[in-house]
Parts: sequence; C-alpha cells; structure tokens
Amino acid sequence: MLIEQLSLFPYLEPETALRPPDFIPIYEPWLGEREEAYLLDAVRSGWISSLGKYVTQFESMFADFCGVAHAVSVSNGTTALHLALHALGIGPGDEVIVPALTFVATANAVTYTGAHPIFADVDPATWCIDPADVEELISPRTRAIIPVHLYGHPAAMEAINRLADRYGLTVIEDAAEAHGAAIHGRRVGGWGRIAAFSFYANKTITTGEGGMLTTDDPDLAARCRLLRDHAMPPQRRYWHDEVGFNYRMTNLQAAVGVAQMERIEEFIARKRRIARWYCEGLSDLPGITLPVELPGCANIYWMVSILVDRPFPLERDALIPILRERGIDSRPFFHPMDTLPPYRTGDPRPLSFALSRRGLNLPSSPNLTQGQVEYVCGVLRGLTG
Ligand SMILES: Cc1ncc(COP(=O)(O)O)c(C=O)c1O
Repeated sequence: MLIEQLSLFPYLEPETALRPPDFIPIYEPWLGEREEAYLLDAVRSGWISSLGKYVTQFESMFADFCGVAHAVSVSNGTTALHLALHALGIGPGDEVIVPALTFVATANAVTYTGAHPIFADVDPATWCIDPADVEELISPRTRAIIPVHLYGHPAAMEAINRLADRYGLTVIEDAAEAHGAAIHGRRVGGWGRIAAFSFYANKTITTGEGGMLTTDDPDLAARCRLLRDHAMPPQRRYWHDEVGFNYRMTNLQAAVGVAQMERIEEFIARKRRIARWYCEGLSDLPGITLPVELPGCANIYWMVSILVDRPFPLERDALIPILRERGIDSRPFFHPMDTLPPYRTGDPRPLSFALSRRGLNLPSSPNLTQGQVEYVCGVLRGLTG
C-alpha cells in the first residue's frame, strides 16, 4: 500500500492527525507551513515548470549540504541515475557492477542505457556493496561501479574508490536513501565521480517526486544539465546535437525542496535519535540484529532496519502481519536483484539472499515520538515472552 494512502494528513503531528489513532505508518513525509508558503509563492509567481528561483536555490542549497561544487535537479532518483550513466557514456556492451541488495531502480537505470548490471554481494555488517566481491566481478567490459548507501549507512567508499582507480572505473554513488550520511565527516554525494539522490515521499527530504545529481566535475554537471533538457543548448533554441531527455524538476517541487532543506539537519538529528530509541529498546532481544554504524561513519538511519532470526519466535514473514494487526506498519527488505525475473542469474549472491529474507524495516518517520517507538519495541518484546 502506498504510504500516501496511510497518511491522511501527513503535515500534522502524529498526536493530532486524523487517522486510526494507533496506526504507525512505515514512513510519512513531514511537511509544514514553509512548504505550503513557498509552494503557494511558486504557484502565484506563474513559474510552475522548470524555470524559477526555487530550482536554482534548491540546487545550490543541496550542493552546499553535500559539500560539492555542483548539484543538478531532476525529476526523480531513477532519472538521476540514468542521466549520470548516460552522461558518462555508458551504453551497450558495457557492464556496471551494482549491489544485489538494492531497490530495483539501481539496476534498471543501467539497463536503460543498454549496459548490463552485474550483481555483487553485500557486506554482512553494513548491508552495502562488498568491495572484495566487486573486485571478483571486474571484467574487461566493466565501466562503472554503483555503490548504494543502503537504508542510510554509507558504503565502503574508500575501498571502492581504490578499486576504481586501480581498474580505471567510474564510481556513481546511489545516495537515494542516505542524504547526510558521511565517512570521516565527508558526506555522501561527494565520494564518487557523481551521485544520485531521490526525494520521493518516503525519503529523508521530499519534493513529492524528485531527484538530484551532485558532482565536483563542472563539465559533467554541464553535460547533465544539457541532457536533462533534450540536449538543447541554452544559447540555441530548438537545436539538438544528440538525443536528450526531459528529466527536469519543476519549480513547484523545488519550492517544497527548499523548505525541506531548511530543516534537513533537524530531520537527520531526529532520525538518529529514533534509531537510538529503537536500539535501546531492542538491544537485548534474542534473535534481533540492529543496524550498525561503523567507526568513522555517520548512518542517517533512513529506515531503521533489523534482522529477524532464531531464537526470535517468528520468522520475518510471519512477523509482518502480526505487527500490522497491532497497528504497526513494516516492510521486508528488497528482493535481491539477481532473483527478479528481468535479472535472474540462477546463482544469487548468498549474503544478499539471506539478508533479504530476514530483514525488516520498522516505522522510521522523522516525526515519530519516543512513545511510538517504545510501543513498537514493546510489541516485539511481548512476542518473545
Ligand atoms: C537505492 C535507491 N535507488 C534509487 C531509487 C529511485 O528513486 P526514485 O523513486 O526517486 O526514482 C530509490 C528509491 O526509491 C532507492 O531506494
């Protein structure tokens, strides 16, 4: 079910929202008066498509936030990935290594270019792409690696970048789930040659639908801007040297984005606090594995995710409907890419496969209260008693 259907009045505090009082959705966007005011301002200005002050303001705020020189807004996170790959010249005959455990958009974006996604296994602690397995999979056709900062923990970017340097590959970060995650204080979005973000309604900040590319490379940023707008040079209207796309973000979306950026540090602080509440409430529960934060890393806990194993009395798939009966929404981990019909290999990467069957995302909205988290933890504890 779509989260929008579960959140009738997502801009209200949970205490006052008109919805079944005990229901805790997996995620709800947190929109407030600023979002309304800027959106209204954009509507009244008449600049409702992709020209308008909010687009440039949002891009510059986001570039600053990631600590990079350039940010290029786009229509969603999937188009961000596709545009990055296309702008880098990746196409038919090429291979791009992606994690087996990710959302399907990572693999699909590679497929759109005519290249082949090759699936690497993930690290048992962070659930992000495993550099050792990446190295095993590098072939003469490999052009790029897409590490995904899964559920908010940064991937092993130093090791990935070392591999990329050694084998002459390009790194494209899929940071759709990890706005603000960092390694040694340096935020994701600035670790690869280019990075893609999503602003879907359940992301750390949202514009409804929306995405962003970040890079320090001025030529690559300019190329993405050109291709985003049908490859039409701004100085030569209706002239197109090549086939481009309409992947533009609207000024309406960007107006919401600017308001969200004004609160992004608060959202991240809240998400980290929510994760702490869950960890305190579940740390000694047998069979429950909690998300990690490796030394030197900042996990933003986009989703607070757990693994469910014996001796916990229920398997993950049996737990989901029981939580729902008690008013708690949850989501299973993604199916591994190499088990899905378009990408099935017959030889799934083992750890991604195992994690995908045991992993569960718990309610993770930034406006969750401590009482709600304690309720979820209490229900999980009660099941063990
Ligand atoms: C890892 C990952 N990559 C890419 C995307 C695609 O983003 P969007 O839904 O904005 O197209 C998402 C999210 O939905 C995601 O979780």
